[in-house]
Amino acid sequence: MLYTTAITALLALPGASAQLNKLAKAAGKLYFGSATDNGELSDRSYVNILSNTDEFGQLTPANGQKWEYTEPSQGSFSYTSGDQIANLAASNGQLLRCHTLVWYSQLPSWATVNSGSWNANTLTSVVNTHISNVVGHYKGKCYAWDVVNEALNDDGTYRPNVFYNVLGDSYFALAFKAAAAADPNAKLYYNDYNIENPGSKQAGVVKIVKLVKAAGAKIDGVGMQAHLIVGSTPSQSQLQSAIQSYVGAGVTEVAYTELDIRFSSLPPTSSGLTQQANDYSAVTKACLAEKACIGITIWDYTDKYSWIPGVFPGQGDALIYDSNLNKKPAWTSISSVLAAAATGEATTTTRATTTTMVTSTTTRGSNPTSCTVAQWGQCGGQDWSGCTVCAAGTTCQAGNQWYSQCL
Ligand code: G3I
Repeated sequence: MLYTTAITALLALPGASAQLNKLAKAAGKLYFGSATDNGELSDRSYVNILSNTDEFGQLTPANGQKWEYTEPSQGSFSYTSGDQIANLAASNGQLLRCHTLVWYSQLPSWATVNSGSWNANTLTSVVNTHISNVVGHYKGKCYAWDVVNEALNDDGTYRPNVFYNVLGDSYFALAFKAAAAADPNAKLYYNDYNIENPGSKQAGVVKIVKLVKAAGAKIDGVGMQAHLIVGSTPSQSQLQSAIQSYVGAGVTEVAYTELDIRFSSLPPTSSGLTQQANDYSAVTKACLAEKACIGITIWDYTDKYSWIPGVFPGQGDALIYDSNLNKKPAWTSISSVLAAAATGEATTTTRATTTTMVTSTTTRGSNPTSCTVAQWGQCGGQDWSGCTVCAAGTTCQAGNQWYSQCL
């Protein structure tokens, strides 16, 4: 019944090229979202796309809620940057993922000086004060909080940082308890990178989830950042295995929280863009296949504002819109996978050989005709062997050589 209602609503939508969130919701997910940052909000064209709730149903502040911004000096709180993005999400009607409370990076100098500045009592008080103030300020506004961020080394051992050095592994439960007390309704996440597929670090996350629960604290989710590399993205089955392990450890939901898939050398070739599209497709399919996966957030939606070139010089082009705010093949592949799920079609494997835009569909020549593709569904593209007949009121329009859609 719910499914029928969702599809009916979907079919009633006007044709639109902004649709990732709409399709994700129709496919049963909570949102498709994007990170954003304060400096970009003066770019009107950028904000127009960001604020389109057909495209993005959720925002994450990439910086503004971090400790160095929210408590720049001890006991003195500032919410200007975080509020700007929280207010934008609220006025757009978008969910807010709040990011992040306890992280070794982007700490103000007073908190980092060195571990010797603190003892267990003083640092416990510092953590409690920070979390109760910040989470309290945003109470009722955050769908979720990334409570602890990047606490693991790549081998799955605990990262030595001021919190671990002074408090040992008790700081996890401390942080989750403080966050739950300050906003009982926010979903509380552990968030990290390189935990998207099974391995030592993923096992470390399982351990943290169990540790927090054993201490009697609430932990709702695991955030898989998913800063991935084109051609090295885990397979769909690996991605699903990791998700299943987190659910098995006791969280009720997971999300891809910072997805981007970068090229390790630039510029990308057309086959590279195809590979990137397929890599994005694998992540989207994994999320769709696992009920516990509630949504996908990309770490900003355009190459124009990606963090990657600043940290990995010579790498990048990791997002789904290019620097001129044009959609890339990865956008189309995500849209295609979501549309197939939303309309109940079998998910197709995208096989692109070029990214050149064409104006007509290219199909295999033996496509069935006693069928109808609903609005948003795939109706053509290179090697497409499925139905090419669009539902009344829609026409088959080429997005690119390998994907056409009933719009
Ligand atoms: O705000 C200052 C500005 O005043 C100054 O002029 C400018 C000069 O460099 O720097 C600005 O601060 C920068 C800040 O982003 C805001 O733009 C910092 O230098 C820069 O280091 C910082 O980078 C952020 C990075 O986290 C820091 O670790 C990225 O924007 C942000 O996207 C990135 O996000 C992290 C997640 O929080 C956690 N997971 C990994 C992810 C990517 O690194």
